[in-house]
Amino acid sequence: MRTVVCAAGAAVLCAAITLAQSLPPGKAAPKPASGTQWFPPAQMTTVGVYYYPEAWPESQWARDIANIKKFGFEFIHMGEFAWYFMEPDEGRYQFEWLERVVKLASAQGLKVVLCTPSATPPIWLVRKHPEVLMVDAKGRRMNHGSREHADWSSPVYRQYVERINTELAKRFGNNPAVWGWQIDNELSHYGAGYSYSPAALTKFRSWLREKHGTVERLNRDWGNAFWSQMYQNFDQIELPNPSELPQQVNPHALLDFQRWFADEAADYLRFQAATLRRHTKDQWITTNYMSMFNAVDPTRAAADLDIHTWTHYPVHGNLGETGFRMGDPNEQAFMWNQMRSLNGYSGIMELQPGQVNWGDINPWPQPGAIRLWIWRAFAAGAQLVCTYRYRQPISGGELYHKGIVEPDGVTLSPGGEEYSKAAHEIAELRAKRNAAAKLPNELAARRTAFFISYDSRWDIDNHKQTTRWDTTGHWFRYVRALQSMQAPVDVITVRHNLQGYPFFLVPAAQLADPELLASAREYVEAGGNLILTARTGHKDMRGHLWEGPWAQPILDLIGATIPQYDLLPGNITGGVRIGASGPEYKWGSWAERLEPKQGTTVLARYTDQLFAGKAAAITRKLGSGTVTYIGVDTLDGEFERTLLRQIYAGTKPANLAPGFSVEWRDGFYVATNYTSKPQPIPAGANAKLLLGTREVPTAGVTVWTE
Ligand code: GAL
Repeated sequence: MRTVVCAAGAAVLCAAITLAQSLPPGKAAPKPASGTQWFPPAQMTTVGVYYYPEAWPESQWARDIANIKKFGFEFIHMGEFAWYFMEPDEGRYQFEWLERVVKLASAQGLKVVLCTPSATPPIWLVRKHPEVLMVDAKGRRMNHGSREHADWSSPVYRQYVERINTELAKRFGNNPAVWGWQIDNELSHYGAGYSYSPAALTKFRSWLREKHGTVERLNRDWGNAFWSQMYQNFDQIELPNPSELPQQVNPHALLDFQRWFADEAADYLRFQAATLRRHTKDQWITTNYMSMFNAVDPTRAAADLDIHTWTHYPVHGNLGETGFRMGDPNEQAFMWNQMRSLNGYSGIMELQPGQVNWGDINPWPQPGAIRLWIWRAFAAGAQLVCTYRYRQPISGGELYHKGIVEPDGVTLSPGGEEYSKAAHEIAELRAKRNAAAKLPNELAARRTAFFISYDSRWDIDNHKQTTRWDTTGHWFRYVRALQSMQAPVDVITVRHNLQGYPFFLVPAAQLADPELLASAREYVEAGGNLILTARTGHKDMRGHLWEGPWAQPILDLIGATIPQYDLLPGNITGGVRIGASGPEYKWGSWAERLEPKQGTTVLARYTDQLFAGKAAAITRKLGSGTVTYIGVDTLDGEFERTLLRQIYAGTKPANLAPGFSVEWRDGFYVATNYTSKPQPIPAGANAKLLLGTREVPTAGVTVWTE
């Protein structure tokens, strides 16, 4: 069980939310120190680059590193896939080459980020111990020849990882040139999904034993009286694997498996962090989470890392008319808000420098887009922005992947030019920072806590009921609305504090934690504004429906019942309207029929289909606050945006074009334009422009102070 302290509104109420999320097993690492020693506020954002010295002749290192410095980068990231070069044979460690390159970097004044090489076990290890290789859903053991093919649950693998990390940390843990560490790389098994190894099974069974205690309780919680799925003891349980089952997997077993897997990933991070911390001094630790990846939950290891970083390749295929060249601003907003909210320190460890090699189609980003993303990171409060990678490889699986320099190793690529420009611009802005600047009141009035739950995300996705439903797409409709109103957002889960958030948005929290709901009620009674959206409260934390009215635990809170939901096939749409007149919005994925009780006001009604005339969105006063429930998921999010504007009306929200974002950081307003049209900045007449113009072009950036 984890505990989080919440408070709300001006009344500063405190309420404990205890989420029934099991604590990951394994020993906690010693508590990290405060981040300001590594990330001084005056530095704001620093820009760095990946470099793989092991892939290039040593005679080129000094040249490359001097150029990295010249182009404006301030740190260099190395070693993540270099296990073979660090330990070419078992127990024979060689770090001299890395020491030489660290020295070269330090001589140029570049800070160094080193990585644990656990994503790429060397050949001698996997041949000696094939059991360290992961097993995919079809029972195939993965093999040497790529990466992320090792099994985190294998005790043998962990021993080897511990040894190499210990040697690395002993060697570099006191080196003042080394600024920080990254653990592994994009913890995942990429396309191979989960590991179904015997080691994983052993750990899953003991996790289940600890969680359920007895097999009788497990049978009850998994609903095993259905289809004779009863177990007689824990040793009969296998990893729930859809490719071994002719029909649907037990959803409760699957949910537990996903929880276990996320716990196991967090445990693996914690284990590596603990090894590093034993031998390092004054160096920070992170890992680079893959954007929107749902199998690994960053909140589970939040307390074990000093800064939370992610990886992002916004342009990699057919993402719509502007998206295919600029990426998805909602995804970026969400990820930044999530990463920053974990402990206040965030960064992007890999940000696309040009074309990638792995998309279905690999277009060039819009000219300016790379600089745009860097400034978006700055605007989000990022401490660091790093790009993958400095040199375009001339051999290997990623040889079509652009770098900061072209394959000749010296000429800046178009993306490299943008990086260099942005790095210099950010460095120049530091002198203009106002250390005393405080978030303006008009923005503080719109601060929003955005609650997400991995449990609910998994459970919904396991049991979607319609292919038209997209859980993160549903979140993003609200992210988009919040961005357009210029509302500062923190993505919260457990551990967070609701003090100072006038709005609390809980989208599609399908699994209703009773304590979360009790706290939400307290928050509202003390003056907070709670917004719940479709698919909230439908099940308990095991994923069971209520033996009672639909969404039973939220009904009293929202002041309505939810007797039915409807889903439309193909391209068929239904209509929904806010108030008596005004535009009709279209839905197709999910619509709940709401039956308001006395004292509840209807905000929107369905115009056709089965629920014509029935309520789709409602609101009510409760104590000193309000509760709004939005029971429909529309096609383009304009309905959600309009409704949110109504709810936030008292804060005089901005009305920015979706995709045009204006953030505030360190006294600076930063506008980034992901739309296809020029956008005017919402600035006063006396605004002082520091970068860009009052009309922000597509992929443009404007920075100003008021
Ligand atoms: C990332 C990965 C990097 C590199 C990059 C290519 O997902 O972490 O190592 O492969 O993709 O775009």
